[in-house]
Parts: sequence; C-alpha cells; structure tokens
Amino acid sequence: MLTLETPRLLLRPYTDDDAAFVLDLYSRREVQQFLGVSPKLMKDSAEALALIAAWNRLDDGTCGVWAVQVMDAAGSEHLAGTLLLKPIPASGPERKPSGDIEIGWHFHPDSWGKGYAPEAAAAVLDHALARGLPKVVAVINPANGASRRVCEKVGLHHQGTSDRYYNAVCELFSTERPACP
Ligand SMILES: CC(C)(COP(=O)(O)OP(=O)(O)OC[C@H]1O[C@@H](n2cnc3c(N)ncnc32)[C@H](O)[C@@H]1OP(=O)(O)O)[C@@H](O)C(=O)NCCC(=O)NCCS
Repeated sequence: MLTLETPRLLLRPYTDDDAAFVLDLYSRREVQQFLGVSPKLMKDSAEALALIAAWNRLDDGTCGVWAVQVMDAAGSEHLAGTLLLKPIPASGPERKPSGDIEIGWHFHPDSWGKGYAPEAAAAVLDHALARGLPKVVAVINPANGASRRVCEKVGLHHQGTSDRYYNAVCELFSTERPACP
C-alpha cells in the first residue's frame, strides 16, 4: 500500500502492533454513534486484529485503509485515526457492490478539533484521483455535523440525501459537481 504524507501526518498501513489503538478507537460510543445503521462497539483485541486483517485485504494499490499517524514538531508520533478508501455496497438485501468507491474517516476523540481528518482525507482524495478513479463518494449520517464539515473542507460536493447505499438514508457527497437542476 502506498504511504502518503502531509505536513503533519503519515498515512501508512495498519499492522497487528496497532491493535490496542484500534480497540480503543472502535470501542468508543462517540466514535461509533454515526457508523452504520446499528453501531456496534468493539469488544476485544481479537476483533481489532480481525478488522486490521480485513482492512489490509482491501489494498489493491488504489483502495485501502490507512492508519493516520501524527508526527509532531518534537519528533514524537502517535496514531490519530483511520482513513478508508473502499468499494461501497449498494442498498438491497444482498448489499452487492455498487461500483462506486467511498472515502471515510474515523478519528480518536483525543485528536478531534485539530483538522487532522480533512488533512488526511485531502491526501487520500488526491491519491484516488491521481490513480484515475472517476468519482469518490462519501455518505454521512444526517446528524453528523462534524463529518459533513470535513466533506466541505476537502471540496466534496453535496448531492442531497440518498438511499442508494448501505440500506440507509444518508447525506451524499461526491467529487462530482451536482447536476444542474
Ligand atoms: C468526523 C470527524 C473525523 C471530524 O474530526 P475533527 O477532528 O473534529 O475534524 P476537524 O478538526 O476538521 O473539525 C471538524 C469541523 O466540524 C465542525 N464541527 C464539529 N462538530 C460539529 C457539529 N456537531 N456540527 C457542525 N459542525 C461541527 C468543527 O467546528 C470543524 O469545523 P471548522 O474547522 O470549520 O471549525 C470526527 O468527529 C470523528 O472521527 N467522528 C467519529 C467517526 C465518524 O463519525 N466518522 C464519520 C463517518 S461518515
């Protein structure tokens, strides 16, 4: 998987050594509350290791899941969150691939409010477009104002609400400009 760098961040693959961070992140209600139709809190490190393995299987040179590591001025580093670029399932009983690619971001509350999510997302969007993806979408729970703001900050265009993905009504953002009315 391609490692990506921004002024403050290193985006690199997750490894098994990151399981404690993954468990800490995904066992939190404030992180999970807007993820999925019925959010489920992670329970143990076995689940964290299984998720890391599943994420690493998504790596195809373009799509993948990155661990976002903060490099501070003093030279120390810590994990802040996750950036995802992956196929998004269509709504429907079988959740078949929709053919579209989604971007997503999950950050640890200790790292909220510092602009890391848009900084990391912008790097992944640049990577996706440089790799030739024609379109990237983001689907946001309508109550998730912070995530909506991240979409706006990276220049994703609001397309209105949509039930096209995940069997849920979401705010849909995409790299494409909305069609003229
Ligand atoms: C979404 C998330 C990544 C945002 O991270 P963050 O570190 O707060 O991002 P930023 O530092 O860029 O700040 C977000 C922006 O949203 C704004 N914001 C925060 N809470 C908000 C709210 N409830 N409503 C509207 N805007 C809000 C902030 O003021 C900021 O905007 P500004 O820079 O113009 O002031 C973080 O909240 C998160 O990981 N949440 C849990 C996982 C999640 O829901 N992911 C999205 C799934 S689609």
